[in-house]
Amino acid sequence: MYHFTPDPNQPKPELYRELAGSAAALVAGEPDPVANMANLAALIRQFVPRLNWAGFYRVVQDELVLGPFQGATACIRIPFGQGVCGTAAASGETLLVPDVHAFPGHIACDAASASELVVPVKRGGVVIAVIDLDSPDLARFDAEDARGIELLAAAISSAI
Ligand code: SME
Repeated sequence: MYHFTPDPNQPKPELYRELAGSAAALVAGEPDPVANMANLAALIRQFVPRLNWAGFYRVVQDELVLGPFQGATACIRIPFGQGVCGTAAASGETLLVPDVHAFPGHIACDAASASELVVPVKRGGVVIAVIDLDSPDLARFDAEDARGIELLAAAISSAI
């Protein structure tokens, strides 16, 4: 199995380049999307510090449906345009939310979550899923985290 020991002092751009490379290696040659998303959620949770939830919501018809994740049980279906995930999926843009309680329509799945980063995963320009990261710390995520998870999303979009 793939083993990785992240260095907590590594600069973020380096950490995320390594994460994207590890993610690509992890899914290489494996066609099963559920297995790949499950391993990727575990990899993200291991790589990225200060998270209480990391995982996927998949686009199924006209809504988001919970995919593999690491963390507390979560809401299963999120309509497009609702919550942080549905808003990011509808716009196709990454959403950085420093304080989830200040985000209108935020869907609280885990009461521990204080800030959130949602990155759409696109294939052929179409949103097929989102990667959702929650942190118990306010303003946990910045532009470097966003760029890093976007790099990961691009690296795995053909494997989920
Ligand atoms: N907070 C998200 C819902 C998903 S959970 O955070 C796992 C939202 O507002 O879309």
